[in-house]
Amino acid sequence: MDKLALYIHWPFCRAKCPYCDFNSHVRDRIDQGRFAAALRRELAHEAARLGRRRLSSIFFGGGTPSLMEPATVAALIDDASRWFDPVAGMEITLEANPTSIEAGRFAGFRAAGVNRVSVGVQSLDPAMLTFLGREHSADQAVAALELARRIFPRLSFDLIYARPAQTEAAWRAELRAALALAADHLSLYQLTIEPGTRFATLAARGEIVLPDGEAAAALYEATGEEAARHGLAAYEISNYARPGAESRHNLTYWRYQDYAGIGPGAHGRIGLADRLLATRRHRAPEEWAARVERAGHGTAEETPVPPADRAREALLMGLRLTEGIDATAFAARTGVTLDDALDAPMVAASVAEGYLVRDARGLRATAAGRLRLDALLGAIVA
Ligand SMILES: C[S@@+](CC[C@H](N)C(=O)[O-])C[C@H]1O[C@@H](n2cnc3c(N)ncnc32)[C@H](O)[C@@H]1O
Ligand code: SF4
Repeated sequence: MDKLALYIHWPFCRAKCPYCDFNSHVRDRIDQGRFAAALRRELAHEAARLGRRRLSSIFFGGGTPSLMEPATVAALIDDASRWFDPVAGMEITLEANPTSIEAGRFAGFRAAGVNRVSVGVQSLDPAMLTFLGREHSADQAVAALELARRIFPRLSFDLIYARPAQTEAAWRAELRAALALAADHLSLYQLTIEPGTRFATLAARGEIVLPDGEAAAALYEATGEEAARHGLAAYEISNYARPGAESRHNLTYWRYQDYAGIGPGAHGRIGLADRLLATRRHRAPEEWAARVERAGHGTAEETPVPPADRAREALLMGLRLTEGIDATAFAARTGVTLDDALDAPMVAASVAEGYLVRDARGLRATAAGRLRLDALLGAIVA
């Protein structure tokens, strides 16, 4: 049976950031015991039907999983290691926000088995941290990174760029300062305005204006150059790593392989003998927990993914990667050959324009193609 990656969602944050549309909620008081028990129960339920698989990674995402009690993280890792067969050196990542309170828990997370942290730094510019509504200062971020580097074998952090009025020179300077603090992996996201967020309201009023397409493309190019100068290669649209330091968990998504999702709003893609299932849990934390307490799981939807949808999803994910799509793996996973999934004349045109490469291995987007992936996908999917 295929290897499995496990995603565990912690849905709470100290405050809601104005740009964020992830499933995150602010509560005066969080019943840690209740949510820990519900996560463990849903994991047991999922494990019972999946059977013993090799477990390649665990990822604690959010929300803000660094607000979890280390004991909860430890219990979930222990449970997962009992239900499944962990691969040697299994990657166990936890997303952490860099306030001092959370940094104080780093040693506890490490003792629980976490071997990789992804720290939500977002910016090293104090004014920008205020604009982004963050709860930490630039100094706290630097201190959290230094502590994390001493405690965890692997370290990544996130920055958000292509912010209003950000010049290329200012971004290069900020990124260089960040690269000096970086270990072997960085996630560098362009700011997007997500519907329903505070920033969407401000953008609609014209109070937030993002860089236009050309300026954003120049910032993206500058990002790749600076990262490469520091030895970090762009292996995915927004992710940069030293060779071998790529996020194995996130590669599972982009390679369209199996992952189980536990916790409020978590998604999964699970290959069973004769079908591929898409699973989604209830988003509202309390409703999810109540359902787990009643039925053992908080599943809102579980539907087989038909071959044409699998092909579309695999293209959407795989073209984000610099390595692109392996034609053999694609056909085995989706039941559709790469040729049948693609509109041949449109692919040929995109290859001629320098956006795609079609070779014996399969299909990949060039750097120019990855910049306009949405339009490209719209054109080439049969
Ligand atoms: C869901 S957050 C979880 C991590 C943690 N709670 C934090 O905020 O640091 C994952 C990452 O997505 C990125 N992100 C979220 N919303 C974004 C947006 N609208 N534009 C660009 N990046 C965004 C941020 O860099 C963030 O660190
Ligand atoms: S960006 Fe992170 S801390 Fe901010 S609301 Fe989203 S999940 Fe929470």
